[in-house]
Amino acid sequence: AAPTRYEAENSPARCTGTIDANWSGYSGTGFCNGNNAVGAYAEFTVTAASAAPAELRVRFANGTSGSRPADLIVNGATVRNVPFESTGTWDAWVTKVLPVSLRSGGNTIRLTPTVADGLPNVDYIEL
Ligand code: GCU
Repeated sequence: AAPTRYEAENSPARCTGTIDANWSGYSGTGFCNGNNAVGAYAEFTVTAASAAPAELRVRFANGTSGSRPADLIVNGATVRNVPFESTGTWDAWVTKVLPVSLRSGGNTIRLTPTVADGLPNVDYIEL
């Protein structure tokens, strides 16, 4: 089936920071600019028809020169630490594909930065 897109600015997604629209190229009406702090997060709630592996796609922009690593946390369990590398400018969006394992029904997917620089800007996820 075609993936479903979950915009960071649309409920029930949560963003500990601000929903901004001051850079171009985002989907929907904005993106999550998480607080520049360890523990800030962008969180999505998705529904899966059955328990299964899935390809999580995360669209992000990182206009700094360094990586902004973040933990990928599914249903409260850390799956892995993901490097969100520089995309060159804040207007340049890149999609990362990450394997995850979903359970049947509701799932929470949280990205939480492990460095004080915080998250990259997060546009959406697709599953
Ligand atoms: C800048 C940029 C933001 C970005 C922030 C950051 O302020 O305008 O979109 O989120 O840097 O460093 O996280």
